Order: sequence, then C-alpha cells, then structure tokens
Amino acid sequence: MFHILIADPISDEGLDVLYKAKDVSITKETDLKSEELEKRIPEFDALLVRSQTKVTRNIIERAENLNIIGRAGVGVDNIDLDAATENGIIVVNAPNGNTNSAAEHTMAMMMTLSRKIPQAHSALKNRKWERSKYVGVEVKNKTLGIIGLGRIGTEVAYRAKGQRMNVIAYDPFLTEEKADKMGITYGEFEDVLSEADYISVHTPLMKETRHMIGADAFRQMKDGVHIVNCARGGIIEEDALYDAIVSGKVAGAAIDVLEEEPFQDHKLLELPQVVATPHLGASTVEAQENVAIDVCHDVLSHLNGDQVKNP
Ligand code: NAD
Ligand code: MLT
Repeated sequence: MFHILIADPISDEGLDVLYKAKDVSITKETDLKSEELEKRIPEFDALLVRSQTKVTRNIIERAENLNIIGRAGVGVDNIDLDAATENGIIVVNAPNGNTNSAAEHTMAMMMTLSRKIPQAHSALKNRKWERSKYVGVEVKNKTLGIIGLGRIGTEVAYRAKGQRMNVIAYDPFLTEEKADKMGITYGEFEDVLSEADYISVHTPLMKETRHMIGADAFRQMKDGVHIVNCARGGIIEEDALYDAIVSGKVAGAAIDVLEEEPFQDHKLLELPQVVATPHLGASTVEAQENVAIDVCHDVLSHLNGDQVKNP
C-alpha cells in the first residue's frame, strides 16, 4: 500500500487518477503548518503540493519513506531540490498544463494596467463617475520586452503580436533565427530594458534570476515603462520597483506574485499605479485539471516503478 499526502488543494479530476488506482491510500490535509508536516511526513511515500506548501530541508530530512514529491504546476522554487536529491527523492512537476492560463492572465494584467480598469471599477462601485481620471494608453505599436521566452513567454509573445505590439525578447536559449521565425526581435538583457514600453518577466525563480530587475535595471528603462510580473515574486526587487514607481520612472505595474506569499502587508499594494492579483495566473478550471491529472499520473507511475514524464 502506498500512502500519498495531498498537502495543497488539488483538482478532483487529478485526484480521481489516484482514487482509481489499486493499493493507494490518500490523505488530504491542506492546512498543515510546517511543524505539523514535519511530524506527519514519515508516514508517506508520496507528497503532492502546489506553491503554498514549502517543502523545506527539515521536512525532507524527516521523510524517511518518501519516494516522490509531485508539484501540481511549473515552479519548483517552493521545494528544496538539493535536499530532495541528497535524500534520493524524485521531484516531478506539471510544466505544460497551465501555460495557456498563465499567458492569458499576463495579457489580462497588461491590458487592465493600461486601461486602469481595477481603479475605475472600484471608483464606480463606490458610486464615483470619474471618466477623466482614468485615461489609459493603447498597447498597439508599443514594444513589449519579454524576459524569459519559454513556454509562457512564447505564448505571451504571440498574443502581443495579435495586439499589434512589437516584441523584443531576451532568453539565454533564444537565437536570432528563432526570433526571426517568430516575427519578434532578438535582444540582449540590456536591449530589452532600454527599448521596451512594457516589460514582462517569465523566467523561473533561481539564484541567477533573483532580483535580476533591480535599481540598476530600472535606471536603464524608458521613462513611463509598464512592468508586468506573472512569474515569481523575487525576480523583480520589490523595494526598487516601489522606488521606481514613486519617482515616476515606472508608470505602473501589474503583479500576480510577491516575494512573500501569502502577503502580510505590502507597501507596493498601497500605490494606485499598482494592479495586483493573489497568484491567480494558473487559477482556471482548465489549468488546475490539467496540472493535477499530469502530476498524479507521474506520481502513480513512479510508485509503480514506471518512468515519469516530468522529472
Ligand atoms: P519555462 O521553463 O518554459 O521558461 C522559462 C524561460 O526562462 C526559459 O526559456 C529559460 O531559458 C529562461 N531563463 C532562464 N534564466 C533566464 C535568465 N537569467 N534570463 C532570461 N531568461 C531566462 O517556464 P514557464 O512555464 O514559461 O514558466 C515561467 C515562469 O512562470 C516560472 O517562474 C513559473 O513558475 C511561473 N508561473 C507562474 C504562474 C502563476 O500562477 N503566476 C503560472 C505558471 C507559471
Ligand atoms: C506555477 O508555477 O505553476 C504557478 O505558480 C501556479 C500555481 O501553482 O499556482
């Protein structure tokens, strides 16, 4: 019998894959505090999480029966990968299932930022008819700079072209040839910073990308640039973003992710130029079904001694 712990809310369509399997017992405990998880983890062969549960070294080192950690989503920055490897635990994710949702959310955030929709909506709900206060800007003919042209960055690039935007992208794996084929411009990091009217980041959060957009990067940007982060809090240095907005360098920012989640209190959220959502990029029915099904299949395959798709 394999014992699987579901530590974050995961779509029932995915869990059905596990419920239908033989010799599997499932425990759903989606509100465990870190210390409680440390105590409970030795009971389990597999652990399934989204981004909420932080799978720390302490937890991993107590997980004497754990074979696999499944992440229902892309980013594995909430899992101590070194500790997992040292302890012979495989980590699998579900990299494809939420690409579309994250790209759609990015576009929605960019448009909403440009047209000040949340601000106007709140004002009207408070019975204030303030047409002249909420004049926006068009995105057509503006340049979108994409940092990280992977699955989501690529989908955002195609959508932005559909909005008649020019796109320039930086990614260490992007070639001029690929950029040409996509009908976008290939740039170095500094080119993207200096040429873009909108900058959207789509890299993983790793030591190389942590705070890659800080005070120095903001200095290189155009005045009045718009910033979008639907990837990970921590890629953009939040104090530097705050200062850049207050100084007028940045016209506005749309952020789905913060360095500390769930947030306690955050000065960025006090600024009227900031529109924000609580890490909703992958929060669609479709994406949650896709990632849950994918990760549950991989967890089951591994427990049954078969190969996994997304190690
Ligand atoms: P991906 O791995 O397909 O793409 C990431 C790209 O970033 C790769 O092409 C890689 O070469 C590039 N990259 C790595 N280091 C870089 C650097 N220093 N500079 C520029 N580019 C660099 O990942 P993805 O599926 O497109 O996901 C992108 C990000 O979005 C991840 O951080 C992921 O966790 C996040 N995400 C967030 C949500 C959400 O709910 N907001 C949903 C899905 C994914
Ligand atoms: C991801 O990395 O897949 C996203 O952060 C989505 C999520 O898990 O909420």
